[in-house]
Formats: sequence, C-alpha cells, structure tokens
Amino acid sequence: MRTLNVALAERSYEILIGPNLLGRPAAIIEQMASDRLAIVSNTTVAPLYLDRIANPLRAAGIRVTEIVLPDGENHKNWQSLNTIFDALLADRCDRATTVLALGGGVIGDLAGFAAASYQRGVRFIQAPTTLLAQVDSSVGGKTGINHPRGKNMIGAFWQPARVLADTDTLSTLPDRQLSSGMAEVIKYGLIRDLSFLEWLEDNMDRLLARDADCLAYAIERSCANKAEVVAADERETAKDNGRALLNLGHTFGHAIETGLGYGEWLHGEAIAAGTVMAAELSRRLGWIDAADVARVRGLLQRARLPVRGPALGADRYMELMGHDKKVMAGRLRLVLLKRIGEAVTCSETVAADIRAAIETCCV
Ligand code: NAD
Ligand code: GLY
Repeated sequence: MRTLNVALAERSYEILIGPNLLGRPAAIIEQMASDRLAIVSNTTVAPLYLDRIANPLRAAGIRVTEIVLPDGENHKNWQSLNTIFDALLADRCDRATTVLALGGGVIGDLAGFAAASYQRGVRFIQAPTTLLAQVDSSVGGKTGINHPRGKNMIGAFWQPARVLADTDTLSTLPDRQLSSGMAEVIKYGLIRDLSFLEWLEDNMDRLLARDADCLAYAIERSCANKAEVVAADERETAKDNGRALLNLGHTFGHAIETGLGYGEWLHGEAIAAGTVMAAELSRRLGWIDAADVARVRGLLQRARLPVRGPALGADRYMELMGHDKKVMAGRLRLVLLKRIGEAVTCSETVAADIRAAIETCCV
C-alpha cells in the first residue's frame, strides 16, 4: 500500500492507494466520529462493491445506512442530493454520522456536497472506484452538482477525512472509463511534471493493459501532484497559477459536456478534446510549436481519447465558456501551456484566437 498526505493543517488527511482497501474496516472506522456510517453509491457500483465494504463494517459493530442512486452524470443534480438527505433523515442519521462515497467522481461530488451541508457538515470519506476519481476528484475537497446552464456550478469545498483508492476496483472498470481517467493523469504531466509525462509516453500501453504496478504508480504520482497543488491553494483563490492550473482543458471541456448534454461525452473525453484546444491556443500565442501540439494530441490519442471537439459552433462554445467559474470581471481566464510540462493561467487571450483554436480543433 502507498500512502500520501494532503497537507492542509487541521484538515490534513491521508490518501491510501493499493489493493483490497475496501476489505479493511479499520481504515474507515478510525476516521469515524461514531458508529454511524452512510454509504452513498450507485446502481452500477453497489452490486459490485457495497457488500465488500459494508459487511466487514457491520461485523465490526458499525451501523450502516445504504443509499443507492441512479447512475450517470445526468443524475449529478438536486434530485439526487435530496435523495441522499431524505435517506439520512429517514434513518435518523445524526451529526456524528460519517458519509462515505463509494463510486466514481459523480458519486464523490454528490456525497461530498451532501456531507458538507447535512446538519451543517458531517465527516466524509472517499472510496473512489474509477481511475478518474482515484487520480483527481476524490482528492482536494471540491464537491457539488451540475446546473443545466453549467457544470459543477453549485457546490462547496469539503475535504474528506481519508481517501481509500482500492486499485482492485479498477478491474471491473470499462475500457472507455479507464481512458477517460487517463485524460486527468496526462494533465498532471502537461501542467507541472515533465518527467511524469515522459514516463506516460513510455508506459501508456502497459497502463491501458492495466498493469497493476504501472497503474498504482500513475495514481500515486497523480495524487502527489494534486496534493501539492491543493496544499498551496486549497480554495483556488490564488490570482495566478494556483489550483486553477488543474483545470487545463476544462473550460473548453465543460462547454462540451454542457453543450452536448451531461453524460453524452465522458468527462475525461471532453477534457481531452479541450486540452488539444488549449494547446492549439498556446501555439497561437507563440508559447509552444506545432510539434508540441502534435505531441499532446498523440499521447491523448494513444490513450484512446478524442482529440477533436464536437461541432457545437464557436459561438456556442464561447457562450458556454462564459459561464466558467474561472471567469473574473467578465474576462475568461484560461489555463494554457507555456511549454510542455508547465501551465499558466492567462486572462490576456483575445476572442478571435480562442474562436480560431476551437474551430481548428472541432470535427
Ligand atoms: P462516474 O462517476 O460517472 O463513473 C463512470 C462510470 O463508471 C459510471 O457509470 C459508474 O457507475 C461506473 N463505475 C464506477 N466505478 C466502477 C467500477 N469500479 N467498475 C465498473 N464501473 C464503475 O465518472 P468519473 O469519470 O468517475 O467522474 C466524473 C465526474 O467527476 C464528473 O462529474 C466531473 O465533473 C467530476 N470531477 C470532479 C473533480 C473534483 O475535483 N471534485 C475532479 C474531476 C472530475
Ligand atoms: N479538478 C480540479 C480541482 O480539483 O481543482
């Protein structure tokens, strides 16, 4: 098992990465405030893993409330949040209850937001079961839901007390979902870790073949990068080059997800196409060259990710991107590549360049 620390003073916590973590009740119990645990999962993950985690806990005397939501990005909304609150209240869960998210990023974001707001906040544990959630969404405390007008528009920062990334769960993950997670793994290399990017270029085939050591290393290195960024700028308040750098490709990608309808493209797929748009815009600014853009595109393609966005039209992209949370004083703040392995935030782009980058990178 590999252990990392997210250093956030009194909100610090450990990320545990390794096999058979769901079957280790002590790793959960030692982070709970009482014997009450509410596990939030969905109709896909619950049949696979809910008993694996809940049975040993019950055997250890924990009273477990199970909350199973419908599966899908289109259910990351108020209705699902209310389902969680209804179940917590119906089972008389008190303020000492711990909420545990068992699933991918959708479940983690929903359960985390519920934990942040139920009775003004209860303890929260993440048990991520997708690659994307193990390398990104379970770490850092961003929680929330989508609004029809924009991705992740309503939410809260609420750090987990522990993250249990059980790598055994990746064995049942569909190939398309594995690739989706790879978009966020590649992101860390592009924004701040060139030697990791080179390692990914050398090992992408082994990763896609689910080589256990390679996957565990990629998860650890991704989480280490994320932990450093989050520790330096927990609430994304840095004016430049803080936590916002984790959003490379996301302003374009969120426009794709919202524009097509949630769930049509997977999050990582939208981010992959958005990353190529960000690279192309960086080239137009003269920061990187065509060979660099080809390098970005090539690695994403090798991870079996789309590298061209859907043809929503540049006007629609621009309208959707205007809702981005990084918009400040009416200006788009984009994450771009100063060079491969170093991203920066940039508010100085002109609309014509953004539109051109979108048009060059759409089908
Ligand atoms: P997801 O949660 O929808 O999971 C993908 C699919 O895989 C779902 O159908 C799920 O039921 C299924 N699944 C999960 N684990 C499985 C397993 N082990 N075996 C088989 N099937 C399994 O999607 P995701 O890619 O995990 O997360 C995407 C979400 O995360 C988006 O909503 C995105 O906005 C959010 N996100 C949040 C942050 C953050 O910092 N909070 C960061 C990145 C992404
Ligand atoms: N996934 C972006 C962030 O956590 O800030």
